Amino acid sequence: MKSLNHDVIVKNALTAKAEQVSDCDLLLVGTPVHGYILFGQRPTKEVREFLEQQLPQDLGEKPVIGFATYLFFPAGALNPVKKAVEARNGKLLDLIAERRTKKKALMDKIIACVDQI
Ligand SMILES: Cc1cc2nc3c(=O)[nH]c(=O)nc-3n(C[C@H](O)[C@H](O)[C@H](O)COP(=O)(O)O)c2cc1C
Repeated sequence: MKSLNHDVIVKNALTAKAEQVSDCDLLLVGTPVHGYILFGQRPTKEVREFLEQQLPQDLGEKPVIGFATYLFFPAGALNPVKKAVEARNGKLLDLIAERRTKKKALMDKIIACVDQI
């Protein structure tokens, strides 16, 4: 993405803060898919806590892309991202899930999505 002239700031879900989210023009929320017998597929606990605690209450239609890597099947792992972004007035551009071995394909899809903004 740097080659497209964007400044990219990468933050860990554990330490990302609401002010940093407010300051950016585009938010990408990424997670590995974690499956649980009773709960199905979800983002990691850290990403779920980030969504609950650090996503500003009003995103003011800020564009957001959610993405996930998985081993077998992503199922609805990105649904919590969709739910949190839409509940806070964000503009969800896409939810992208790719196998962990296809990170280039994931990157290409993200760049294609960013290009359309
Ligand atoms: C606790 C745990 C649960 C996982 N559950 C699933 C799952 O339900 N479905 C799936 O496709 N992959 C699952 N995975 C695989 C991860 O999604 C995959 O390893 C991840 O996307 C990250 O890729 P990496 O191993 O290259 O870091 C799980 C991994 C862990 C550690």
